[in-house]
Amino acid sequence: MTRDRLVGVGVIGAGTWARAAHLPGYARDPRCRLVAVCDVEIDRARDAARAFDVPTATADASDVFRRDDIDLVDVCTPSHTHFDLAYRALETGKHVLCEKPVAYDYRDTLRAADLARRKGLKTKVGLTFRYSPAMRYMRELVAGGFVGTPFIFNGYEQNSQWLDPATPLRQVDHEADQSALHVSSLEGYGAPIIDIAHLLVGADLAQVVGTMRNFVPERMVRATGRMMRMNIDDGDIFLGEFANGALCSIQTSFVTIGNYPGIEARLYGSAGALICRLVEEEGIAETLRAATPDRVEFRELEIPARCYPPGGARTESWRTLFYANLVSSFITEILEDGAANEGDFGDGAWVQEVINAVELSFRERRWVALPLAR
Ligand SMILES: NC(=O)c1ccc[n+]([C@@H]2O[C@H](COP(=O)([O-])OP(=O)(O)OC[C@H]3O[C@@H](n4cnc5c(N)ncnc54)[C@H](O)[C@@H]3O)[C@@H](O)[C@H]2O)c1
Repeated sequence: MTRDRLVGVGVIGAGTWARAAHLPGYARDPRCRLVAVCDVEIDRARDAARAFDVPTATADASDVFRRDDIDLVDVCTPSHTHFDLAYRALETGKHVLCEKPVAYDYRDTLRAADLARRKGLKTKVGLTFRYSPAMRYMRELVAGGFVGTPFIFNGYEQNSQWLDPATPLRQVDHEADQSALHVSSLEGYGAPIIDIAHLLVGADLAQVVGTMRNFVPERMVRATGRMMRMNIDDGDIFLGEFANGALCSIQTSFVTIGNYPGIEARLYGSAGALICRLVEEEGIAETLRAATPDRVEFRELEIPARCYPPGGARTESWRTLFYANLVSSFITEILEDGAANEGDFGDGAWVQEVINAVELSFRERRWVALPLAR
């Protein structure tokens, strides 16, 4: 794409996350321009358009797809609508940023990645936490050999967002058969930490074994406005063996006491260990600590300014801070020929394949080899 005009952006979905993270990310990047915002609830689209100074508000996604002045379509709608909207946007020749999961079945995500490749379009998945300044620095240190050969990765994404059964649940199929457990936390909360494990260990998983549990049986469901039996996984743990010999354990839950985002990534290797904690405490949402064989007491590292987006600070809300880096990375990929693609649909498909494999492992009570059958 030429640099002679700004990247035109259309955002589909003007709910909580679009307003808290996506829209502020575009508003902050001078290389793009918000052209349209779309929500089936037109008042939400209009409110967001007003708040972020976007010229067009619409209730119909087709209005976004057909515009020539939109280069990038951002899908920030409920999960079950992601695939259809993202695929249609690619078909009409738009670069696409899609919230995770792009699709529930990794093979669909691969299909969308393939379409993008054939059309020469860029994709990105809302794997927010790989873009946090502390995680960026952790990745730099790992790439520079700080941990040596990776041995063990421990990952957590847990908070107590839905510990209280009265907190309305969204992103669930309340009409599904509740006699069987449904994947929930593993997909909604596991995705970012599985992605981070992949990045930091630097290899694919060869096999996984996992379990899931429903701890809070009845919950308020936003779509029905009443308490219902919801047999969802609100806590899960799995083990994995990587192709390079490293091991991992990953634990996710939204009923474990602690604050957002609730991520902790620990990497232990032959030369050092790093622990990145993305948990909002005392107004700070990220810390990075390190230990080496000669200094086994973990010490906090300062995160270099280059890992922050322009104007970003450690005390800023993690939602805008991390997403500013994500949006900036995507705009760079669109504008600069040859820019490495960081976190595209291929990464989203890899993460989803692991989620699908852990679910299979739980259902069949066995280790599952990766990759799964295509
Ligand atoms: N990556 C992250 O860290 C992160 C954090 C929070 C949420 N999310 C994801 O972001 C997505 C949105 O979450 P949310 O909390 O904003 O939900 P939300 O329910 O607050 O907002 C979704 C909006 O999409 C609109 N919508 C639904 N179908 C539509 C369609 N076909 N076309 C246009 N608009 C449509 C709804 O009216 C609603 O306003 C979800 O997939 C969620 O999992 C990701």
